[in-house]
Amino acid sequence: MAASKGRIILVGGEKGGTGKTTIATNLAALRATTGRDVVLIDTDPQGSASGWCLTRDEAGITPRIASVQKFGKGLARELEDLSLRYQDIIVDAGGRDSVELRAAMTKAEVLVSPVQASQFDLWTLKALDELVRQAQGFNPELRTLLVISRGPTHHQVTDAKDAAELVGDYDTFTLAKSVIRDRTIYRRAAGLGQGVIEFAEPNDKATQEVQQLYKEVFGDE
Ligand SMILES: Nc1ncnc2c1ncn2[C@@H]1O[C@H](COP(=O)(O)OP(=O)(O)OP(=O)(O)O)[C@@H](O)[C@H]1O
Ligand SMILES: [Mg+2]
Repeated sequence: MAASKGRIILVGGEKGGTGKTTIATNLAALRATTGRDVVLIDTDPQGSASGWCLTRDEAGITPRIASVQKFGKGLARELEDLSLRYQDIIVDAGGRDSVELRAAMTKAEVLVSPVQASQFDLWTLKALDELVRQAQGFNPELRTLLVISRGPTHHQVTDAKDAAELVGDYDTFTLAKSVIRDRTIYRRAAGLGQGVIEFAEPNDKATQEVQQLYKEVFGDE
């Protein structure tokens, strides 16, 4: 029987500062604590995801999470290779619509696309819809999960409801049930090379929302 290939999870979108690296590193930390062999791919020249891995290594935090920086079109081929060597490949696709984002979309099983509540508008959704349609020409199985990220901790009901109404018009993506709220604990954990799961109390709200998102991304496996 052929060895099963690693799962490729992509975190990306066309806007900067939406929380992509925060989500990618937190998913990686959670996944690694289940004993899986995880690699985090950083396609951003700013290197924040690989910097997080380095900080983690220097602090001796286990489980260790491998990281690779990779730029350019060759990323698609690299992902194929890495999927033979790792159980999970989590790609942090930098801050904008890039060659790397498009290349990774042709290989990923899921695109997790964080959007800030304040940017949750028709233009953002239209752009994402187009991007996903193009990628589906190469990768029909691609699933896209839109996540409200850095959401304010108040107006919980209205922003989720408004977002659900806007997203209802598109069949290229679904709105995640989990919302990642703006909480200082995300920044404090990241600064130490940790995920909130490692930094916070088990019943902390941030831990709970990250765990919920994790389930939506990875399913039960
Ligand atoms: N849920 C959150 N709560 C609090 N702070 C957050 C949250 N998500 C992200 N941040 C902070 O916001 C800033 C941008 O987040 P992050 O680096 O994850 O975004 P990004 O989408 O990866 O940005 P870029 O487009 O530059 O790659 C960082 O300082 C980060 O710590
Ligand atoms: Mg980033």
